[in-house]
Amino acid sequence: MSIYESRPVYSRRVRSSICAFADQTASADRTCPGSGLGSFADDLTEAIRIPYAHIPTFPRSTAIGHAGQLVVGKSGNVSVAVMQGRVHLYEGYPAAEVAFPTRVLGRAGIRALILTNAAGGINVEYGQGALVILRDHINLQGQNPLTGANDDRLGPRFPDMSYTYAKHYREIALEEAKKLSIPPREGVYAALAGPSYETPAEIRYLRTIGADLVGMSTVPEAIVARHMGMNVLAISCVTNMAAGILDQALDHEEVLEVGRRVMGQFIAMLRAVLPRIAAELQKPG
Ligand code: HPA
Repeated sequence: MSIYESRPVYSRRVRSSICAFADQTASADRTCPGSGLGSFADDLTEAIRIPYAHIPTFPRSTAIGHAGQLVVGKSGNVSVAVMQGRVHLYEGYPAAEVAFPTRVLGRAGIRALILTNAAGGINVEYGQGALVILRDHINLQGQNPLTGANDDRLGPRFPDMSYTYAKHYREIALEEAKKLSIPPREGVYAALAGPSYETPAEIRYLRTIGADLVGMSTVPEAIVARHMGMNVLAISCVTNMAAGILDQALDHEEVLEVGRRVMGQFIAMLRAVLPRIAAELQKPG
C-alpha cells in the first residue's frame, strides 16, 4: 500500500524516521536546518552523518553518487540539521514524497527551515551568479504535497500561504547580504516540474505572471513546512539566465559550474544568517 492510500501509514513512517534520528543524534538540539547546499554540511563541527539509507523509508536521490545524507552538527554555536542531497519531482517522486524529509524534520522539532536552490533568472536585473531571497512563489508543478486526506496533527486542512517566506527572516538575509557586499535582492520563484528546461515562450509567460526566477524544487518543502507552522527562508542562486533571455542554449554543466563558483558566497550568507535566526527562535512568542 502506498502512503497516499493510507495516512496512518504515512504518519507511522514519519515516526519511525524520527526514531532513527533520535537514536543517532541524541546530543543535537536541532534548532535550524538547511537544505540543498551540500558542501555547507562539510564544515559543521561535532557532526553526525546519517546516510538516508539508514533512515527508514527516507526517499533517496536517483542521481548516481548522490544518495544523500543528513548531517547534524554545529555551524558556529548554532545547532543545525543539513540535508546533503534532496529528491525532486522530476526523479519521479510525488510532491508529498519530495517533502517527506521536511515532515520528519518538522516532527523532530525543527522550527526554522532554510531552503536553497539553483534557478534560472527571468528578471533581467539579475546576472548569472546572483543570490536572490525568495519573497513568494508560484506553484506550477501540477502537484501539491498536501493533496489527499489531511492529518490534523500535522497541520490544518487549508493552510494559509500569505506569509510563506518569513518577512523577518527575509529582512535578516537582506541585511546580511549587504554586509557581505552581496547585492540584496528579492524575487518570486516559479516552480515547474522539469526535467526539461523551459521554452522561451514559457519564460515570457512566467515573466507576465510575475515570476523573477524559475526552478524545479523548493515549493513542496516550503508548503509542507508552512503546513506544520515552521518559518521558512529560501535563497536561489541564479545559475543561468532563463531560456530565451540570452541567445544561447541552456547547458546543465554551466548551471553546475556557476553553482560551484558562488558556493563560497552562498555559504558566507548562510553562516551570517544562521545565528540571527537562531536568536529569533530563542525569543518568547
Ligand atoms: N530552469 C529551471 N530550473 C533551473 C534553471 C532553469 O533555467 N536553472 C537552474 N535550475
